[in-house]
Amino acid sequence: MGKILVGNMKEVPPGHKYKTKIDGKDVLIINDHGNFYAIDDTCTHSGASLAEGKLEDNVITCDWHGAKFNYKNGKLEKFPSKIDNIRSYKISLESEDIFIEL
Ligand code: FES
Repeated sequence: MGKILVGNMKEVPPGHKYKTKIDGKDVLIINDHGNFYAIDDTCTHSGASLAEGKLEDNVITCDWHGAKFNYKNGKLEKFPSKIDNIRSYKISLESEDIFIEL
């Protein structure tokens, strides 16, 4: 267990997201009105990068086939078939640094 520095708050303005890597895995950091969230970047349907997806009302929509995940907890919100939730991570902030807690 520990925490990993994944960026600085200045790098991601409100309403934006960016992709980073943790232990070789792509993770998406999202700034929702100054609250930060982190989820796996890889869609559980067919592996698209959610970094290309659209953010709206706590949900990120996969650009490939439209799966909708709640980016605050990783839960699948909408898709025609059953697919896995996306992993979400706990974020902590120190000064303006963003950490993911593992
Ligand atoms: S790859 Fe994301 S919905 Fe198909």
